[in-house]
Amino acid sequence: MTKAIDWEAAINTRRSVRSYEMRPVEEKTMSDLTDFVNSGMNLPFQHNVKVRFFKATPGSRLYTVKMAPPDNVAFMANTDIKSISAAGFVGEMVILYATALGLATCWYGHYTMAELERLMPHLGEAGKQPQPKWGYGSGTVPGERAICITPLGYWEKGGIRLMDRMTGAFISYKRKPLGELLEGGVKEADLPQDIAYAIDLARKAPSAANSQHWRFTVSPDFKTISVAMPVGYKHLKWEHPDVDIGICACHFWLGLGLKSVGCKVSLNEEQGRVVWRFETDR
Ligand SMILES: Cc1cc2nc3c(=O)[nH]c(=O)nc-3n(C[C@H](O)[C@H](O)[C@H](O)COP(=O)(O)O)c2cc1C
Repeated sequence: MTKAIDWEAAINTRRSVRSYEMRPVEEKTMSDLTDFVNSGMNLPFQHNVKVRFFKATPGSRLYTVKMAPPDNVAFMANTDIKSISAAGFVGEMVILYATALGLATCWYGHYTMAELERLMPHLGEAGKQPQPKWGYGSGTVPGERAICITPLGYWEKGGIRLMDRMTGAFISYKRKPLGELLEGGVKEADLPQDIAYAIDLARKAPSAANSQHWRFTVSPDFKTISVAMPVGYKHLKWEHPDVDIGICACHFWLGLGLKSVGCKVSLNEEQGRVVWRFETDR
């Protein structure tokens, strides 16, 4: 039995933390988190995402300018867009669970590839080829990669650095209003309360550079909801925006569950991006 957590509180309290105390995660907390991961997390779709815990050595510059704490986790998957989107969903389940256990985290797509390979060898033969400096690169590459990684630890409050202050003030907490995120004709005022609630939790999802490129399409009978980015969407700096869509889909699914709305979940590649579809039993 894994420990039950308050998912809504986890969504509302999670923030990207970029300064950590240099101490490992407490043993009991780590065992609760690994139990949750090993339980399979009761996910509503098939996937091949692997959650790999790894240690960083003192002073490791895995994360751009910051020091890595001792404990970290990588979300590993193939690099086609469906797999990376599934990595977003699975990774966010882990991140929210860790948040509920009192841990600080931050999604990183731009980790130092050479340093990750040193700490957690995973490239095998592919590692003999030249590798990108940040993250696993762009497009689809052969085999499984670390799609994103996150530190796992305790927020070093005194050590807050410029990047945290800047993202806190200008980027982090701001989210688009729900009404701006609806496509396909259904208006915010028409939404049943349970669907509005789930979309509200979904819009609070983290996204690279806080770009919030998710859009929701609700069928006129309110039974089917899909989450995807606009066709042709591109971000200047973030090569894998379907990861963020998986993260958003995770929040939406948790929101439906909290309102006891059952659903069938599918993810498909449509017009060059991943579409998550929730066929509800409401
Ligand atoms: C897929 C993904 C990749 C991210 N990559 C980075 C990164 O490489 N470096 C970084 O400092 N923050 C990264 N972030 C954190 C975002 O900047 C952050 O989630 C966003 O600004 C919203 O802030 P919040 O997480 O505090 O709500 C990433 C977030 C996501 C979802």
